[in-house]
Amino acid sequence: MEIICDSVEQTMELGKKLGENLTRGMVLTLNGDLGAGKTTFTKGIAKGLGIEKVVSSPTFTILKQYQGRLNLNHFDAYRLEGQDIDLGFEDLIYSDDVSIIEWSGFIEEILPEQRLDIAIEYLGDNSRRFNFNPRGQKYLELVEVLI
Ligand SMILES: Nc1ncnc2c1ncn2[C@@H]1O[C@H](COP(=O)(O)OP(=O)(O)OP(=O)(O)O)[C@@H](O)[C@H]1O
Ligand SMILES: [Mg+2]
Repeated sequence: MEIICDSVEQTMELGKKLGENLTRGMVLTLNGDLGAGKTTFTKGIAKGLGIEKVVSSPTFTILKQYQGRLNLNHFDAYRLEGQDIDLGFEDLIYSDDVSIIEWSGFIEEILPEQRLDIAIEYLGDNSRRFNFNPRGQKYLELVEVLI
């Protein structure tokens, strides 16, 4: 399923709508080039989860955690390329928290089979294409709310 967002505001709104519909334990992956909008989209999701703290890029910390309607683990696996994966991450990904993983390809082997894969593609200055690939029934139902 594809959705095009022509502004940061639209991306935030889309993320918010997704965040409002997330349920316990859901896992989302976000992939796309540097500056595609993964963190921007996550900010919208956090809003939808009722998180009031400002969400910033976890690039240098790998993981940031937030409290909301559901707790959010926001991972950025960019710096984990070729490194041993911290086993603590698995406990968080397989928990009741929502987990969002930027650059998930670097930790592919610990990702659950059931998840929502999201790819973001740069189209122009303010324009991005979102491609949603739900893996599993509950994620299929989740993306339906975005249409
Ligand atoms: N429609 C849009 N959606 C999202 N971001 C947009 C859009 N239009 C412009 N932008 C800009 O693109 C940039 C996206 O940056 P962001 O940090 O979200 O990317 P990222 O994919 O997380 O990058 P990184 O891989 O470095 O973590 C921001 O500067 C944002 O203002
Ligand atoms: Mg980012």
